[in-house]
Formats: sequence, C-alpha cells, structure tokens
Amino acid sequence: MAILNAKTRFMHIAENIPLLPYNTFGIAATAHRFVEVRQLHEIQALHRLGERPSLVLGGGSNLLLTGDVAGLTLKNSIGGITVVREFARKVWVRVGGGENWHGFVTWAVAQGYGGVENLSLIPGTVGAAPIQNIGAYGVELKDVFLRLEAFDWESGKTRSFDRPACRFGYRDSLFKREAKGRYTITQVFFSLQKPPHKVNLAYGDIRKTLEAYNISQPTIADVSRAVVDIRNSKLPNPAVIGNCGSFFKNPEVPRSVWERIRVTHPTIPAFDLPDGRVKIPAGWLIEQCGWKGKRVGNTGCYERQALVLVNHGNATGAEVQQLAYDIIASVQQQFAVALEPEVNII
Ligand code: EPU
Repeated sequence: MAILNAKTRFMHIAENIPLLPYNTFGIAATAHRFVEVRQLHEIQALHRLGERPSLVLGGGSNLLLTGDVAGLTLKNSIGGITVVREFARKVWVRVGGGENWHGFVTWAVAQGYGGVENLSLIPGTVGAAPIQNIGAYGVELKDVFLRLEAFDWESGKTRSFDRPACRFGYRDSLFKREAKGRYTITQVFFSLQKPPHKVNLAYGDIRKTLEAYNISQPTIADVSRAVVDIRNSKLPNPAVIGNCGSFFKNPEVPRSVWERIRVTHPTIPAFDLPDGRVKIPAGWLIEQCGWKGKRVGNTGCYERQALVLVNHGNATGAEVQQLAYDIIASVQQQFAVALEPEVNII
C-alpha cells in the first residue's frame, strides 16, 4: 500500500518482509506488514490512517524474535545530528531516533564533545538507547541525557520527556514498562562536555588498556579506542556471529545472598550498590554452571563472555529462548538467584 504523505513523497507499506536483515541475532522471521519512516510527518500520517505498530525496530540489537510479527512493523530511520545550543563548557545536541548509536558517538568524539566515549561500539540506534538506558564501562545513557521527544500512538501527539519522566534504572525505563509499545522515540537531546574533558576511567579494564597503550593523560578519543578494543576482545561481532550483547541483566541481590554464595565460592565477584545490595555478574554465575562456550544445536553461550547467547547459524528464536530458560533454571538451582533477560523477547 502506498500512502501519499507529502507533495512529492510516498511511504510504502510492504507485505511479508523478511526480518533477518533487521535483527542482529540473525533470526529468520517475517513481518506481515512493514514500513520505514524517515520523518515525523510520516508517523503522523500512519496514525491518521488508524495504524499503530505492533513492533518498532531500531537496530534490532536487543531483540529476540520467536515467531513472525503480526500487524505493522515500523522501522524508525529518522536521522539528523544537530547542535541546538552552545554554552562555554557544554553543548546540547539533538539526534534523530533512527541514527546509529556508534555513528553518533564517533561524531561526538570527532567534534571534541565528551560524555559518550565510554558507550562506544554499542550496537543499535539512538532512539532505542533510552528504552533500556544503555550502559557500559561506568557510564549510562542517563548521565548525558537531557530530554527526548516521542510520538504517542494513543493521543497522536508528540510529547517531551525529561530525565525524571523517563524513570531510568539499570537497563530500564518507563518505555520498557508501563509505556511499553505506546511511544516511538523520534528525537533524543544530549548534553555533552566541551574540553577540557573529565574522562571516566573508573572501570578497571579501561585503565588497564590505556596503560598498555602507554597513555597517562587520555583524551576522549583514547578512551573511545580503549572501549572499542575491549568490546572487540570480549563480545562477538553481530556481523559475524548473531547475538544481542548481554542476554541477561546482572542480578541485584541482598548482601546476605552474596555472602551465602561466597561460603562455597570465595572468588564470587561483587559490585556494591548504593542501597546496600550487591550486583553479581550474571556472566560469572552462568560460567560457574558450566555454560560458557557450550553449544546447543544452532545456538550457544559465547566462549569469551558467558552473558552473551549466540546464533551459530540458522538458530530459531524458540531455540535461543529454550537455551535461555535452561540457563535460568540451572542458575536458580545452583545459586537460588533469579536471572532476568535483558533482551526484548517478541
Ligand atoms: N565474568 C565471568 N565470566 C564471564 C563473564 C564475566 O566470570 O564469562 C565476570 C568477571 O568477574 C568479570 C565480571 O563478570 O570481571 C564483569 O564482566 P564484564 O566486564 O564483561 O561485564 P558484565 O557485567 O558481564 C556489563 C554489561 C555489558 C557492558 C559491560 C561493561 C550488563 C547486563 N552487561 O557486562 O553490556 O558492556 O558490563 O560495562 O549489565 C549489553 O548490555 O549488551 C552489554 C554488553
């Protein structure tokens, strides 16, 4: 179906589109109806026609498809990176929801704007980043986030959400919970630092990597390079082995749970949380249960980072989901700790 949405442009709703190229797990599934949007007015036109997407796709890098997608799949390709305000020490930047996240980070580092260099090479789009408050190497999206604009499929209006309104948590936000499926994030606004930058080297691996480069006064470009190298050494490239990064969240447990496990496993790592609880790396729990590097049919647990499930080729979403259930069950049985998936299972 072609919809006339401007004097010269058509937006095309296609039928039975393969989603294999649109998810980094490399799962074969079909979208019954599919449309790609590049401008807000295209979304508004869809709403006027009574459409509402059942799935909004960004980079498809946090998504496990367990079957075909009924209804309308909307691919958000709204682009653009613009400096909207400049101050002595910082800039405010507006980025289209469909922009590639790492492309935005590369742009910021090249301009000398600091704040997102620790988030280098995270797959996905800028519009998907706030949904799960992406984070890595001591920085989370919320640390540089100003506000976002999102189209509300219920009211047909665009709404602005500031940081408190997004209710960010660890890999969590309003858009993953009560507002799930209601909004499409069209623009995200960031506050980035001008030089001199305050780089964040709190995460041990960054410091170690910079020392190996013999860099003692790192620039944001050095930090970005270190993060890229660390990620490349630990995480599989989705273009080579299908995956979605961390499949599970790191469980946050009462300190007593961690102390109980430490009795039998004295090497258990821990990250203390401000509320007194402890975050245990899920990768460690999964590795202790013997899953690391294990292959089950077409799927498996990555050999260099147990938190990542991979597609060795032709895996179905159901196969990956079964492996995830089996891992959850064995961690539950061995440690009495509940793992929760981080990826969006459709
Ligand atoms: N560990 C193991 N075995 C493993 C993996 C990890 O024992 O197979 C233990 C080690 O003690 C290691 C610790 O876990 O020191 C932490 O590992 P890592 O630094 O790789 O980080 P993570 O906690 O496993 C989290 C994020 C990653 C992010 C890294 C770095 C979550 C769910 N994952 O992983 O995010 O890149 O920290 O900040 O919080 C993603 O979300 O897709 C993602 C890759």
